Amino acid sequence: MYREAALNKFEPEKRNILYILHELQDLNPQHYVAKEDIEAVADYLNVPYSFVHGVATFYTMFSLTPRGRHIIRLCDSPPCHLMGSTSTLDHIRNKLGIEVGQTTPDGAFTLELASCLGVCGIAPAIMINEEMFGKLTPERLDAILDERRNSI
Ligand code: FES
Repeated sequence: MYREAALNKFEPEKRNILYILHELQDLNPQHYVAKEDIEAVADYLNVPYSFVHGVATFYTMFSLTPRGRHIIRLCDSPPCHLMGSTSTLDHIRNKLGIEVGQTTPDGAFTLELASCLGVCGIAPAIMINEEMFGKLTPERLDAILDERRNSI
């Protein structure tokens, strides 16, 4: 079970809470921190549920609702804007039929916005799970999304 594996990677110390939550979110097949995960962390660290819940809701990098297999993070910072990220966003929204914060009905994609991804030289940029993509055109986006949709 992913929960036990995630917890056992770290010492049961409060200072590890962000690492543990990250690991739980990464290992959860739906890429989110479930209520049961928060309960498990609270037990493991011997802290109140409300404390863990507070940490998980404070940081935008954690999701408390199920997400798709592929999480698209589109850079929403000025350099990418200048290079056309608004068109990139429109293309993704139209192609996948979802808005920012939503997941496709087949569970393949979740669309999110992010601050600078650190690759401004290849703007406009997106990140899908851990992989970065830049210099995006509609054709390149289609190829990337089609390839991803067919992968696990
Ligand atoms: S501004 Fe988009 S990657 Fe830096």
